Amino acid sequence: MDQKQINDLLTKMTLEEKISQLLQLTANLHEGTEDQSQITGPMEEMGITGEMVRASGSVLGLSGAASIIALQQDYLKKSRLGIPLLFMADVVHGFKTIFPIPLAIGCSWDLELAEKSAEIAARESAVSGIHVTFAPMVDLVRDPRWGRVMETTGEDPYLNSLFARAFVRGYQGSELAEDNERLAACVKHFAAYGAAEGGRDYNTVDMSERQLREYYLPAYKAALDEGCEMVMASFNTVDGIPASGNEKLMRGILRDEWGFEGILISDWASIREMIAHGAAEDDCEAAYRAMRAGVDIEMMTPCYVQHLPQLIESGRIDESLIDEAVLRILQLKNKLGLFENPFRGADPEREREVLFCDEHRRAAYDLAVKSSVLLKNNSVLPLQPDSSIALIGPFADHEDILGWWSCVGAKEDAVQLGTAMRERVSGNLTTASGCGFDTMTAEQLEKALEAAREADVIVLALGEESTMSGEGGSRTDITLPEVQLELVKHLKKLGKPIAAVIFNGRPLDLHGVFDEADAVLEVWFPGSEGGAAIADLLIGRANPSGRLTMSFPHSAGQIPVYYNAFNTGRPMDPSKTGERYVSKYIDSPNEPLLPFGYGLSYTCFEYGGLHISGSEMTAEQHLTASVEVTNTGTRTGIETVQLYIRDITGEVVRPLRELKGFQRLELQPGETKMVEFSISEDMLRYHHSDLRFTSDPGSFQLFIGPNSRDTLQAAFKLI
Ligand code: GLC
Repeated sequence: MDQKQINDLLTKMTLEEKISQLLQLTANLHEGTEDQSQITGPMEEMGITGEMVRASGSVLGLSGAASIIALQQDYLKKSRLGIPLLFMADVVHGFKTIFPIPLAIGCSWDLELAEKSAEIAARESAVSGIHVTFAPMVDLVRDPRWGRVMETTGEDPYLNSLFARAFVRGYQGSELAEDNERLAACVKHFAAYGAAEGGRDYNTVDMSERQLREYYLPAYKAALDEGCEMVMASFNTVDGIPASGNEKLMRGILRDEWGFEGILISDWASIREMIAHGAAEDDCEAAYRAMRAGVDIEMMTPCYVQHLPQLIESGRIDESLIDEAVLRILQLKNKLGLFENPFRGADPEREREVLFCDEHRRAAYDLAVKSSVLLKNNSVLPLQPDSSIALIGPFADHEDILGWWSCVGAKEDAVQLGTAMRERVSGNLTTASGCGFDTMTAEQLEKALEAAREADVIVLALGEESTMSGEGGSRTDITLPEVQLELVKHLKKLGKPIAAVIFNGRPLDLHGVFDEADAVLEVWFPGSEGGAAIADLLIGRANPSGRLTMSFPHSAGQIPVYYNAFNTGRPMDPSKTGERYVSKYIDSPNEPLLPFGYGLSYTCFEYGGLHISGSEMTAEQHLTASVEVTNTGTRTGIETVQLYIRDITGEVVRPLRELKGFQRLELQPGETKMVEFSISEDMLRYHHSDLRFTSDPGSFQLFIGPNSRDTLQAAFKLI
C-alpha cells in the first residue's frame, strides 16, 4: 500500500481498533482464546482478557511457519479491516543455529562475521514466520556482576557502535521490504540499562546527561543510523524517570533530536512497572506517561487498552498521539509487505531446508573459534598430538553451552566438548566430570583423579551454568563455583600441566584457576558448534585470535573497572607503591587482571617502527600513524592492531585512552605488515559540559598495540 492508503486505513479504524494495535501479548495467550475463561492465572491477574488477546496487533515469542500461518489466518478472519499481525521474538544470537553469545561475538572483533551471524539468524527466523527481532542489544557495560553483559558486545562505545551497525545490516539487509528472509531489528534497551547500580538487574541508573551521551547513547544512535526499524525502552530510570515514561529521553532525544520515526516498544510490563518505580499512581497514570513519552506498543500489560479511551475522553491525551503510534505500526506492517502477503517469509519447506543447515553451522563454528580468547599459555597449548589427555570438569560432557537467549536452539543439538575431543584425539583421551556445577561427590572426584593420574595433560572444562547469567542473573560473587575451585586444587597437586577452558556469560574473578592453570582459554557460551571449535583450538587445528571487549577484574571489589577511565587528580604511580595518598586500593591493584583488547595467540607478534606523519594537524588536516607488525612465531595468526587516543587536557577530564580504530590482519610466520591509521579531527570530539560535541586544540597522545595496555605511543597536537 502507499502512504495515502495507509492514511485512509487509519481513518476507517475505530478508536478501539486503533488502541488494540498498541498491545503485544505472548503467543500462548492466542491459543484457544475463544472465551475469557481461557485467560487464567497471572494474565487474568494482569487484567488481560480474551477480547484483548484477539484484537491485539502483534505477537511476542511465537515461531514456526505452520503455527504463524495458522494464527495469522485465524486472526485475519476476525479482523474487520484485515490488518495483519506482526510477529516479534528474541533472536539475539541465533534462531535454531545458535552463535556464541554477543559478548563473545564482540571478542571476535570480526564485524563481517557478526553481520553474517545476524543474516543467518534472520533467514532462519523469517522462514519460521518471524518479522521482527528484539536485537541488537547494545547496552554499554562496565559491571560484570550484571547478568546481561552476556548480551552486549562490551565496554567500549566505538566498538559497540560498529557491532550495532553490523547486526542491523545482518538482520535487515539493504532492502528489508524486498527480502522476505530478513527481519526488522529492534535496538535495545533504550537507554543505559547496562549501568544498573551494583550490577543488579532492573536497578536504578543515574548519571549526568553528558556521561549518557558520551558513553551510553552512541551505540543506539549507530543502530538507528544504520536504519534500525524499532527501539525498545529499558526497564530502568534515566535521571529519575523510568525510560518508558521519559519524555526528555524518548520525545526529546530519540524523536526530536535524532529524528527517529519508527516504532518504540516498551519492555515486558515496563509501562505498568512505573507504578512500582513510584512514577505513576496506577495503570491510568502509567498509560498517560508512556503515551506522552511516545511509547507505541505496550508489551504484556493492558494499561493502554484499559485506560487510553478515558484519557482521550477526558482530553488528557489527544487522539492524535494514538494516531501517530498506530501509523508507525501500520507503516512497518506495510514495509514488510504484510498487507499484500500476511505470511511474508513463513515457509515450512524452506524452514526444513535452512534451519540448522551445514552452512549455518559452519558459520557458527567459525564465530566460536574467533570469539574464544586465549588468556594465558605457558606452552601447554596447543595440546601435543600424542599426549594422553584427561578432560575433566562439569563442561567436559555437557550440552549447556548455548547461553541465555538461545531462542529455539536445542542444547541436545550442540556439539559438546567431550564429543568433539573424542572425535579428534581417539585412544588417548579420558573424560570425567570431577564435579557438577556446584556440587561434588567423592566418587566424582576420585574418578577425575584417576583419569588425571593416567594422563600427560589435564584439560579442565569449568564455568558458570547458563542460568547464572542472562536476564535476572546478577551475581555479587563472580568467581567460579566453590566446588570447581576445589577440583582445581585437587588436580593441581598431581603436578601435571593444566589447560583450563572457561564457559561463562561474563568476565569472572578467576582466582583459584588463573594462577593454577598453565593455560586458560575463554570460550564464553560458544553456541551450537562450540565443542568442535574449542577442540580444534585445543589441538591447534585453529589458532585463537579473540580479544577481550570487557575487562576482567582481579575481584568484584574492583568493579567498575574499565579501560577508558579518567586519570584522577592523584593517579597512582606504579613505581611508588608505598604512596598512600593516591587513588589506589591497599588490598588490590588498580588495573584489571586482563585489560580491554587483551588476547594471546599460538604465535607471537612484535610491534615496531611507530611513525606519525607530523607533530601537529589542523581540523582540516589529518595525520597518518603507522606501525610495523611482525609474526615472530612459527604459525600463521590473526592480530587485531588497536589504535587508542588520549586527549591530555579537555574542558572536561578525558579518558586515559579511547579506542579509535583497529585492523585485523593475518600474518604468516616471519611476515611483517605495515599498518596505517588516519587520525582526523572528528576522532577528537567529545561532549563538553554544555553538551557541545566538538574537539579542542591541544596535546594528544596516540597508542597502538595488541591491547589497551601494551602499546607504542606518540604525541601530536591539534592546532
Ligand atoms: C525481556 C527483556 C527484553 C526482551 C523482552 C521480550 O524482559 O528485557 O530484552 O526482548 O522481555 O522477551
